[in-house]
Amino acid sequence: MRKFAITTVAIAGVALMALSGCSSRGTTTSSSGAAAGFKAGSTIGVALPDKTSENWVLAGKLFEEGIAKAGFKADVQYAPATNTVSEQQNQITSMTTKGAKVIVIGAKDGSQLGSQVSAAHSAGASVIAYDRLILNTKDVDYYVAYDNEKVGELQGQALLDGMKARFPDAKTYNIELFSGSSDDANAPVFFKGAMKILQPKIDDGTLKVVSGQTDIKQTATAGWLAQNAQTRMDTLLAANYTGSTVLNGVLSPNDTLARAIITSIHAAGKDKPVQPVITGQDSEAASIPLIMTGVQYSTINKDTTKLVAQTIAMIKDLAAGKTPSTNSTDYNNGVKVVPTYLLPPELVTKDNAAESYKNTPSLEALTK
Ligand code: BGC
Repeated sequence: MRKFAITTVAIAGVALMALSGCSSRGTTTSSSGAAAGFKAGSTIGVALPDKTSENWVLAGKLFEEGIAKAGFKADVQYAPATNTVSEQQNQITSMTTKGAKVIVIGAKDGSQLGSQVSAAHSAGASVIAYDRLILNTKDVDYYVAYDNEKVGELQGQALLDGMKARFPDAKTYNIELFSGSSDDANAPVFFKGAMKILQPKIDDGTLKVVSGQTDIKQTATAGWLAQNAQTRMDTLLAANYTGSTVLNGVLSPNDTLARAIITSIHAAGKDKPVQPVITGQDSEAASIPLIMTGVQYSTINKDTTKLVAQTIAMIKDLAAGKTPSTNSTDYNNGVKVVPTYLLPPELVTKDNAAESYKNTPSLEALTK
C-alpha cells in the first residue's frame, strides 16, 4: 500500500512537470556577446531533435507556452525521425529567413549545423544550444544543459552501489555497458562520466565486462533507439551469459534504453533469482513504477521545466540587451569555450523518488 502511494506521488510529480515551470537563476559569471536587444512580439525559433525520449516532447510544449508568456512568438519545430539532420538544417535556415531573434537548438547531430548557425548569426540571431552542445563552430553563443558529465558519474556510482546492495556476497560483478547515439554530443560525455567511476573498478578486477565491449564505438546505441539496445542486449546475453553465468548489472544511459535492456534480460530469464541493477536517465513516466518495484534500479531527475525556464531567462536577457548569466566554462566545442549555464542533475532510486519529485515547480516562475 505504502509502495503504491509513493509510486503514485512519483508519477504525479513527473506528469505535473508537463504543466509547470521554475526559475533557477543561480551563481552567475557573466560572459560577453549580448545582442543589441529586440522587441516584444519577436520570433524565437526552437529546433528540437526527433522525440527519442519524453523530455523532448515536454520541452516542445513548455517552449510554446513559456515563450508566448514571455511576450514573444514561438516557432517550435521537431526534426522528423527520418532525414533528421537535413530537416533540422532546413528548419534552422527557415527560422533565420523568417527573422528569428534567437534560435534555440536541441541538436540532432551537433557536428552538422555549422553553416546553418553561421548564417543565423550573420542575420543577427543569437544561437543557444539546448541540452546538446553544437560542435566546431564559433557561432553558438550560449549552452544551457544539465551537467552531463555529472549525470554519467551518478549513473556509474549507482551501478556500483546497487550491485553491492543487491549481491551482498559477491566479490566481483559481471556487467555490460551501453552508451547513447554517436551523433549526440552528450553521449560521450555521459560515458566519460560513468567510466571515471567504473574504469578503476574494471582495472582492479572488481568489475568484469564479460563481453569485453568497453569502447564507446562498441557500446553505442544508434539513434538512441530502444530496438537497437534490445537487439544488442539479446546478442550479448546469448554469446556471454549462457548457463549459470550471472549478470549483475548494466550501465544504461537513459530510461528508454533501460526498459529495452530489461525486456531482453527478462526474455533470457536472467532477471532470476536476482534482478540485475540497471541505471537510467530522464525520469520517464514508464520507468518510475519500475524503479519503485526495483526492476530498474535508478534514473536521473533532470527536470525539463527548469531547463526550459533557464533558456527563457536567457532569451529575456537577450531581448533586454543584457548578457545572460552563465556559470560554467567547462564546455569547449572544439573551436571555443561556449558560455554555459549548467543545472545539477539528481540521482533517483526508490529510496528518494518521492522526495525528489515532490517539489513541482510553479508555472508563474517559468513565465514571470
Ligand atoms: C539527453 C538525454 C536523452 C537522450 C535521448 C540526450 O541528449 O540529454 O536526456 O535521454 O538525449 O533523447
